Amino acid sequence: MNPRFSMAFHYYVFIVFFMHISVLHVLALNPMIGNVTVKCIESERHALLALKHGFHLNNNAWLSSWGHGDNQKECCNWEHIQCSNETGHVLKLDLHVSDHIVRAGSITTALAELHHLNYLDLSYISFNLTPSIAIFVASLTHLRYLNLSHSGFQGKVPHQFGNLLFLEYLDLAYNSLFAEIPPQISNLTNLLYLHLGSNSFHGNIPPQFGIRVREVLSAYV
Ligand SMILES: *[C@@H]1O[C@H](CO)[C@@H](O)[C@H](O)[C@H]1NC(C)=O
Ligand SMILES: *[C@@H]1O[C@H](CO)[C@@H](O)[C@H](O)[C@H]1NC(C)=O
Ligand SMILES: *[C@@H]1O[C@H](CO)[C@@H](O)[C@H](O)[C@H]1NC(C)=O
Repeated sequence: MNPRFSMAFHYYVFIVFFMHISVLHVLALNPMIGNVTVKCIESERHALLALKHGFHLNNNAWLSSWGHGDNQKECCNWEHIQCSNETGHVLKLDLHVSDHIVRAGSITTALAELHHLNYLDLSYISFNLTPSIAIFVASLTHLRYLNLSHSGFQGKVPHQFGNLLFLEYLDLAYNSLFAEIPPQISNLTNLLYLHLGSNSFHGNIPPQFGIRVREVLSAYV
């Protein structure tokens, strides 16, 4: 064999081999890098963006960190959100606004994705689909803190609120709620704080709940 040819062949093999390794490297490493750096769960990121889309914003700065950009994939870094360090699930959503008005359209399905939430503050956001939103919120059974004050809620407190067994803070003040407080509210044995003020409730306080009320920090009917 011509030695020059042999050397060139070796080079060729070496280069092909080296190229293979770098291609494999790129293929193998990139998804790993993706998994390690982005904690946010994709379905929850989509849900949050749908939620934002459901708000009629009159202030562009609010929720500006929530976006579709490649550098915005980590929703755990977005404002008003906290994720679990271990699982990446969104645990806290604090959307309270007091300096401007936010009207919400249909946000029920978006909230449905966020079923790991334990803290939800939607105070001062005014809702169109009042009853369905309230019933829906009551299916977020991990909630410990729920603030729906100043939200334009009308009608009865849905009995489904009795499902929120871990609830410690419940603020429904400054709405247009009326009728009786549902007896299922007695199920909320973990309540530490209850504010029902500035509504139009009437009727009796559920008896077992009356006993609890004396133990909670704040309760106005
Ligand atoms: C999650 O991680 C951040 C940053 O490392 C830390 O500041 C925070 O306290 C952690 N939260 C929990 C609940 O462990
Ligand atoms: C609920 O939100 C209102 C308005 O943002 C605030 O004044 C109130 O203290 C909150 N309630 C609780 C229990 O934190
Ligand atoms: C909630 O309360 C209702 C009526 O007070 C009761 O029938 C029901 O069993 C309770 N549910 C739970 C999960 O404790």
